[in-house]
Amino acid sequence: MPIDNRPLTVPEFLARKAERKRISVLTAYDYAMARLLDAAGVDCLLVGDSMGTTVQGYADTLKVTLEQMIYHGEMVARAAKRALVVVDLPFMSYQSSTRKAIESAGRVIKETGCQAVKLEGGVVQARTIRRLVDAGIPVMGHVGMTPQSIRRLGSYKVERAADRVLADALAVAEAGAFAVVLECIPGTVAASITNQLTIPTIGIGAGPHCDGQVLVLHDVLGLIEDFKPRFARRYATLGDQIKKAAEEYVSDVSHGRFPDETETYR
Ligand code: KIV
Repeated sequence: MPIDNRPLTVPEFLARKAERKRISVLTAYDYAMARLLDAAGVDCLLVGDSMGTTVQGYADTLKVTLEQMIYHGEMVARAAKRALVVVDLPFMSYQSSTRKAIESAGRVIKETGCQAVKLEGGVVQARTIRRLVDAGIPVMGHVGMTPQSIRRLGSYKVERAADRVLADALAVAEAGAFAVVLECIPGTVAASITNQLTIPTIGIGAGPHCDGQVLVLHDVLGLIEDFKPRFARRYATLGDQIKKAAEEYVSDVSHGRFPDETETYR
């Protein structure tokens, strides 16, 4: 199928729900990867604060800063020609006040060139989402299992309180978000929420009945060999391939096989 080469806008993203066109989202953190994903036709690139674990090697996302999100968000937004780019607001860049949220989100939009921000939380963040939207900043919500609450949750586990997740998703939609991520909730709950909302639901570990799906790029590419969450599907095993390529390079250098004549200036 030919790839549509126009950038996707927030209203078009939202309209996908009524059109029943499923939405593909992958995380991206740098220019080179974002270019490839954009060219492959991924609808939306999420500069996720999962960067804290995938790129920075921390156990959770809490140390990621606003400056870092802006640094990586700008690279991804510059690479994207057709995908909608969304940048995560990191932990403590929006929770303390709506004023702080507007300042943080405003910086992200202005300094990266992305189209929207994402933040975690439902009912408790509804007022903030409304203020951001009123300020002209499109917001993607994120409910269910919310990794920025890891200290309170104790571990990353499936969120089974169906009533609470539904109330959170409805609050996010009511506040004006253009989409909502549903993370690690039972598939039946995600299906029911998807039926009740007029904005697209983007699932991760939320089953097949969401309007779209998001996965973390490192899981999709198999870049971290010893980590594979149940909900993720591995489409490549690049971790193994990268290691093999590096081993061959080391062997060629140590045996004097690299560089050869063709790789040498005369
Ligand atoms: O940070 C992230 O990558 C995310 C997705 C997993 C939804 O929030």
